[in-house]
Amino acid sequence: MLRSFLIYLSQAGWAQKMVTGWSFAWNVASRFIAGESTEEAINVVKELNAKGINATLDHLGEHTSTADEAAESTDEILAILDAIQESGVRAGVSIKLTQIGMGLDTGICQGNLRRILDRAKEYKNFVRIDIEDTPYTDMTIAAYNAMLEIGFTPETVGMAVQSYLFRAEDDVKKMLENGTTFRLIKGAYKEPPEVAFPKKADVDANFDLLTKILMDASLEQGSTISEDQRVPPIPAIATQDDKRVEFAKQYAQKIGLDRNAFEFQMLHGIRRDLQMQLNEEGYKVRVYVPFGTQWYPYFMRRLAERPANLWFFMSNFFKK
Ligand code: FDA
Repeated sequence: MLRSFLIYLSQAGWAQKMVTGWSFAWNVASRFIAGESTEEAINVVKELNAKGINATLDHLGEHTSTADEAAESTDEILAILDAIQESGVRAGVSIKLTQIGMGLDTGICQGNLRRILDRAKEYKNFVRIDIEDTPYTDMTIAAYNAMLEIGFTPETVGMAVQSYLFRAEDDVKKMLENGTTFRLIKGAYKEPPEVAFPKKADVDANFDLLTKILMDASLEQGSTISEDQRVPPIPAIATQDDKRVEFAKQYAQKIGLDRNAFEFQMLHGIRRDLQMQLNEEGYKVRVYVPFGTQWYPYFMRRLAERPANLWFFMSNFFKK
């Protein structure tokens, strides 16, 4: 109930205007967001890299409403790829397709995606397509497939899959046929019971099942992280849930999967202890580092995931 309300607020323009107008809101949000500028974000990545952790940078933004805005967002993503190349950090980028025109016009979105992938390919870097709510799932997969059809490969672009969706297993099995790499997540949006498991236990069980499928594929296809750590292997197990992480570790051990053949991913500012622990144990860890001024919807989804975050936010409201 609370989660649904917060996810509703994450998409409500009036709430965005109100919350981003509160100066203390940024103080709380900045736990999850690396800063507003590219420079701040690159500095955070440098610190992670120095500890042995890789990164994926997300220039925050979603649901642009004009072709010009979508082109501007595309230019910003190209600028991050340039900044990564110039600074030499171990990072790729993550993008949302509604940021670059999905929902506005298929041609515009795919044209912008192509520009991004051209640049990533030139730098031998990697672009992960985030997965959004279900009105966009088919469009996202179609855009990804269109990029493979024009010659891009899974070394340049990868997908994400949400274990709360009934369709996830079928999607993964189909796309594994061409070596697609996946970020496996539980899913952060509010979805109806017709398309997604309403119970957390089922979402978790499906997460473990998908972990197995992706790890088996990685073993079978001989997938590994690239030497410069920018291009991920087939499975990126993206969770802060101890039990899911433990399951993945044990399953990898059971099938004899090398530690270069999968990676863990976590969000900036969440479970730093677990990030460091896995890193010290010799697992590959990549942290998702969001930055930019458009932090409101991302921040609200983080509040929705954990009631304790909301209470922290509210206590700051009363202290302001
Ligand atoms: P779960 O929600 O069960 O949390 C497990 C534990 O993690 C909690 O007990 C707590 O300790 C900690 N934790 C989790 N969330 C927290 C928070 N917000 N604040 C503080 N602690 C928290 N979703 C999506 O729909 N599309 C996408 O493209 C992505 N991309 C993405 C990338 C990466 C790298 C990650 C890690 C996650 C995403 N997500 C996402 C979000 C994902 O779907 C999911 O909502 C969150 O990861 C939270 O789920 P957990 O798997 O961590 O489990």
